[in-house]
Amino acid sequence: MLRPIRTAVLACLTSLAVATSAALAAAPLELHPTPEVELPFGDAPGFPAGPGSDVIASNCTACHSADHTLNQPSLSREEWHTVVDKMITAYKAPITPEDAKVIVDYLARVKGEP
Ligand code: HEC
Repeated sequence: MLRPIRTAVLACLTSLAVATSAALAAAPLELHPTPEVELPFGDAPGFPAGPGSDVIASNCTACHSADHTLNQPSLSREEWHTVVDKMITAYKAPITPEDAKVIVDYLARVKGEP
């Protein structure tokens, strides 16, 4: 007596599954376009190449972009020295005195007062 019911239930489930998969197959797959995200780091242009550019790039982009430094007004060597000192003392940038000197030279040349 149970067998016909089981068969009916099975048939029902099977047709449901077929209908569902047919509906899924028919529904067009909606692809969301990959959003364009502009990150403050990454592809942003780095420091212009030249003596010391590798040193400044490896020491001065851990916390902010190169642009953050390059978009400042031009400063004198002493002022750049003060900025680099501030990164080291106030913000705890782990920069050796030798690298700091190379960086100040670089900034005085690339972003120095005319
Ligand atoms: C340990 C993190 C850290 C590192 C490494 C770092 N900075 Fe900064 N820098 C900061 C913070 C924090 C600010 C303040 C950000 C703000 O005001 O939006 C800042 C701001 C600046 C500014 C904006 C002007 C100012 O005085 O606030 C300049 C220019 C700058 N940094 C240059 C440099 C240079 C050059 C180096 C490499 C010698 C460097 N930074 C490395 C954390 C860092």
